[in-house]
Amino acid sequence: MDQNHLKSLVKKFLVEHNCLKTYDHCISVGEYAYELGKNYLDEPDKARIAGYLHDISAIYPDDQRIAVAKKMGIDLYKEEIELPMIIHQKISKEIAFNEFNVTDPVILSAIECHTTLKEDYSDLDLVVFIADKIKWDQQGEPPYIEGLMIALDHSLEAAAFYYIDYLLNHGIQVLHPWLNEAYVKLKYDLGYN
Ligand SMILES: [Fe+2]
Ligand SMILES: [Fe+2]
Repeated sequence: MDQNHLKSLVKKFLVEHNCLKTYDHCISVGEYAYELGKNYLDEPDKARIAGYLHDISAIYPDDQRIAVAKKMGIDLYKEEIELPMIIHQKISKEIAFNEFNVTDPVILSAIECHTTLKEDYSDLDLVVFIADKIKWDQQGEPPYIEGLMIALDHSLEAAAFYYIDYLLNHGIQVLHPWLNEAYVKLKYDLGYN
């Protein structure tokens, strides 16, 4: 599917559900992931597709996410029941598969772990994860941006580690098992042990 066609489908889907802000965020993450991905990936287009779709589940508010996930047959951790916001990454993956016919497992993986990362991350997972943190969905500059960009000059892994380490030191609400596993793996891979 060509990128402009996907973009218009994402727009239609999100605007119909009154999520225009999410549309703007998804497009900016997709474009940034594509640019960043050019340095690391054989197929940076996959980063753009994952970015465009990563928050497509914004159509469901937090208080519906447990029920929606159960209906979709998604397994939930207790940490996700505690903080249903985190479930949106898994629901986005389901919507990408069911409504947008995305079947490529590497794209689906990047959508599914864009908030928490996971232990066996790929470069594509890292690119989308980092793009989402740089082009965040809130006002102004992210408080971690300066350190994150310096770390990104070293590597994708260093940037991902910097961000997770920042979260862990700034009152993270719930420690998702995938985030914890990614942190341990990054630490090991970077030789910080
Ligand atoms: Fe997200
Ligand atoms: Fe996002």
